[in-house]
Amino acid sequence: MVGNLIIKNASELVTCSGFAAKRGRAMSDLGIIADGAVVIEDGRISRVGPTREVYVELKASGTDLSRFETIDAFGRAVLPGFVDSHTHLVFGGDRSEEYAWRLKSDSYMDILQRGGGILSTVAATRLASRELLCQEGLKRLDSMLAFGVTTVEGKSGYGLDRPTEIKQLEVMAELNRMHPLDVVPTFMGAHAVPFEYKGREDDYINFLLKEVVPEVAARKLAEFCDVFCEKNVFSIVQSRRLFTKAAASGLKSKLHADEIVRIGGAELAAEIGAASADHLLNASDEGLRAMAAKGVVATLLPATAFSLREPYARGRFMIDAGCAVALATDFNPGSCFSESIPLVAALAALYMNLSPEEIVTALTLNAAAALGRAQSIGSLDPGKQGDVIILENPSYRFIPYHLGVSTVEKVVKKGTLVFDKFSQGGIRCLMD
Ligand code: NIG
Ligand code: FE
Repeated sequence: MVGNLIIKNASELVTCSGFAAKRGRAMSDLGIIADGAVVIEDGRISRVGPTREVYVELKASGTDLSRFETIDAFGRAVLPGFVDSHTHLVFGGDRSEEYAWRLKSDSYMDILQRGGGILSTVAATRLASRELLCQEGLKRLDSMLAFGVTTVEGKSGYGLDRPTEIKQLEVMAELNRMHPLDVVPTFMGAHAVPFEYKGREDDYINFLLKEVVPEVAARKLAEFCDVFCEKNVFSIVQSRRLFTKAAASGLKSKLHADEIVRIGGAELAAEIGAASADHLLNASDEGLRAMAAKGVVATLLPATAFSLREPYARGRFMIDAGCAVALATDFNPGSCFSESIPLVAALAALYMNLSPEEIVTALTLNAAAALGRAQSIGSLDPGKQGDVIILENPSYRFIPYHLGVSTVEKVVKKGTLVFDKFSQGGIRCLMD
């Protein structure tokens, strides 16, 4: 499914140009080309520039224009597809009842401590068939695509036993094959301590290392290993042990760090050179500075803080301290049942004091870097995958401004139009 496509006359071609995460002030540089065009050949970007110059070059090189579809983006901003670099998208059941408890007085961690929360989704996911997980997964990916997401990360961690962890990862591989969106799989067997190992966290880590990680690595079922490094879940010492051994099997590290309690997750992320440390609501100044120095991406999930009614992570401080910040949804059935990119963008603007420019970088190039893909996606640069979104507005500034409403009109994946908000009089995804 690769296409040849020219998108021309964009009021703003927001290239986000770059091949590595942008830090600090560089996050404000979007590399905008006025009246811009992007050419995609065989699914890859071959040229970007002002529309008139691009056409002059195409003519001079003798390119046969009849091979290309054309989209006229007059009056519209064109950007790289969004990268949602932190989700838990494959799960069984729902937690609508728990949400109602949380609205009264229960806390997220109290519910987990008494065997609900993540553990209730574990019970439902163990029971769910592959077919059901796939069907639900496809619907969720359709919804993400409509928000302009062209690459999504998904974590296991609702099995906490070998067969179900593997089942979740296999379902993600299947979703990746079936849906236009690229799905990047992460192994998160250390998402909670399963009932069978209550009080024996070290034994559970041993089990993961002996019985699950080798198969995940040998079958290349995941690219990353993630741990819920948190008070009363997995300690720094346990997390370090799992990361070190998983890294020796070829799995890169990312972690849920300092989300509820400050236990030194940011410091650990810097120490082990993680690709990203995520949440960071309670990270220390020293930990964040160490992450900046080591180039660990700080992935912030404001919709989770919103849903848990917790204070937001200190995004402004992190950028000013020289961190590369990414934004993601954390879509999951418990702490954040939302795949809404516009919600994330609005919260980052209003409660983390990020500028519209920083928000765009955080949702594109820096999110790609959090997935080790800054060389291949996340910007409109020649050589990168032709993943592009066309807004219904003339400027990227509408992304955080239109509160909670998607500004995305069209989505192009590898040079093929896969979503059009206005096609056939309604919203639908254009696939198979
Ligand atoms: O990122 N904190 C741990 N993991 C997820 C929540 C998963 C769940 O509640 O099901 C998170 O918030
Ligand atoms: Fe998460």
